[in-house]
Amino acid sequence: MARIVWLNGEIVPLESAKVSAADHAHLYGDGLFEGIRIYNSKVFRLDEHLDRFYHGIHYLGFEMKITQPELRKTILEVCKQAGEVNGYIRLNITRGTGLGLDPKNIDRTPNVMIMINTLALYGPEAYKKGLEVVTSSIRVIPPDALDPRVKCIGRYASNILAKNEANRVGAGEALMLNAQGQIAECTGDNIFLINGRKIRTPHPSCGILKGVTRDTVIDIARKAGYEVVEEVLTPFDIHTVDEAFLTGTAAEVIPMVMLDNRKIGCGVPGPVTEEIMQLYREETQNGVPF
Ligand SMILES: Cc1ncc(COP(=O)(O)O)c(C=O)c1O
Repeated sequence: MARIVWLNGEIVPLESAKVSAADHAHLYGDGLFEGIRIYNSKVFRLDEHLDRFYHGIHYLGFEMKITQPELRKTILEVCKQAGEVNGYIRLNITRGTGLGLDPKNIDRTPNVMIMINTLALYGPEAYKKGLEVVTSSIRVIPPDALDPRVKCIGRYASNILAKNEANRVGAGEALMLNAQGQIAECTGDNIFLINGRKIRTPHPSCGILKGVTRDTVIDIARKAGYEVVEEVLTPFDIHTVDEAFLTGTAAEVIPMVMLDNRKIGCGVPGPVTEEIMQLYREETQNGVPF
């Protein structure tokens, strides 16, 4: 199927969607994005993703002219036109266009894009067998430099460095710690640790992106009767759990079975992880129809 992109009000084929070479995210990473999944012709957690997007826009001071309800409506219309039953939406905004990093000297009309595509991060085997993870030497950017709640394009350079460390040793993901050596997250996913019926995940103050999937999993796990707590965690906590899994819009819920060549629990996906994966799959059917 031909891929389409909505760019600044116009729908164009993916190949001909173009922004200026002086786009401020192209030059300085001065932009924001969201990745959102479509399940069965419904957009999953659309409002939660849009809330995070607009919070980032306010924080970075972008001069966005499109209101949140207008953008929501446009996304649903573009999804309908694209006709992707199970797809992935990449929503982007950049501050504007112009050379020089000072915002007052550029055209501050944001470039806004809605791309409808598909994305599979891992093959089915990874979901059956679980992921091997390595601890990255790259720490997450501290909140006093850039608040981790902002899904800013520029911040991903450090996550890509960490991902490359995982790639070099054939691991599926890289674990990123914060400057204090506490567990933050993986390069595109949040982390959950399980002991018995207690599930722990790093507190937002540990330098994580507060994932939409994370919030969904916290809800469904609590509804299923698990105790879920947000805590300060260190690698010690990973080496002493029964099970672990990662969450993200792109990765969904995926077991994590090894850290730095050592087994986590029994080194295979455990029953709690499998239950949460199943509950999450069911929950993804409750999106916004287009
Ligand atoms: C650094 C980082 N952490 C966590 C997540 C998971 O967030 P979400 O569940 O909203 O996709 C992502 C994915 O966007 C991410 O990039």
